Amino acid sequence: MAPAAATSKSGRALARTLAVTSGKGGVGKTFVTANLAAALAARGQKVLVLDADLGLANLDVVLNLHPKLTLHDVFTEKATLEQAILPAPGGFHVLLAGSGMVEYSRLTPEVRDKLLYIIDLVKPRFDWVLLDTGAGISDVVLFAVSLATDVLVVATPEPTSLTDAYATIKVLATQQGRREVGLVVNQANRPGEGKLICGQLQQVLQRFVGPTPGQTFRLELLGEVKNDQAVRQAVLKRQLLLEHYPGSDAAQAIKALASKLLA
Ligand SMILES: Nc1ncnc2c1ncn2[C@@H]1O[C@H](COP(=O)(O)OP(=O)(O)OP(=O)(O)O)[C@@H](O)[C@H]1O
Ligand SMILES: [Mg+2]
Repeated sequence: MAPAAATSKSGRALARTLAVTSGKGGVGKTFVTANLAAALAARGQKVLVLDADLGLANLDVVLNLHPKLTLHDVFTEKATLEQAILPAPGGFHVLLAGSGMVEYSRLTPEVRDKLLYIIDLVKPRFDWVLLDTGAGISDVVLFAVSLATDVLVVATPEPTSLTDAYATIKVLATQQGRREVGLVVNQANRPGEGKLICGQLQQVLQRFVGPTPGQTFRLELLGEVKNDQAVRQAVLKRQLLLEHYPGSDAAQAIKALASKLLA
C-alpha cells in the first residue's frame, strides 16, 4: 500500500490511517491491531489505536486497561481528547470506546460527525492511527473503515471467514472505490496458506471488480500469522503477545507485518 504523503496545515505529516477490519467476527482483528501497534512503536513510530468497534469494543480487555475516560466522554464533552488518549503497554497510545454503548451501534449523523472530528484531531499528532473496527458490512463498520486511507482485512482459512472476507472486500471496492486492500491471513495452518488464499481471493475479486479494461483490483498479502497457542495464552493473560512471547512464530509474523507497512 502506498504511504500517504498528506501534511497538516502546520506542515507536520499527517498520520497514516489504517483500518483493520474483517468479514466474520472473532478472526483476530484486535489481536493483530494491538500487536501491530506495539511492533510499529518498537520501530520508533508514534502510534494511536482507536477502538472503532463502538458498540462492542474490547481493546481494553485485550490490553487489560480499565479506562476512566473513553471516546464516549470526548463525544459528550466530559473529557478532552488529551485526557482520553491513554498510554498502553507496548509503547503506543489508545483511545478506547468502552463497551455497551448501544447508541453507537447505529450510524447516526451525530456519530458520523464526531468520528470525523476525532480523526481530524488525532491525525496531525501521530505517525500511525490504527482503527480496530467491528466485523461485517454494517454502515457503522463501513463508515469507520472509510475514515482510513488504507485497509487491512483479517481472515482465517475457514470457508465462512473467507466468504465473509470476500463480501467485505467487494463492498469496499464497490462502495468506497478501493482498488487496493491489504490482507492478513490469521490462524494459518501451514506455511504458504496465506499466499494461496490471497491468490484465490484476488482472482474472484478481479473478475468481479475489473470487468472493464484498465480497471484492476489488487489484494496485497501483508502477512500470514500461524495458528499459535502463544496467541491464545497471551489473550487469556490479557497481555501483548509481542511483550510476553516475543520469540513466538505469531509475534515474528506481526513484526514482519510492521516491516512491510514501513517499507
Ligand atoms: N494466530 C492465532 N493463533 C491462535 N489463536 C488466535 C490467533 N489469532 C486470534 N486467536 C484467538 O482468537 C480470539 C479472537 O481474537 P480477537 O479478539 O482479536 O478477534 P476479533 O476479530 O477482534 O473479534 P471481534 O470481531 O469480536 O472484535 C483470540 O482471543 C485468540 O484466542
Ligand atoms: Mg475485536
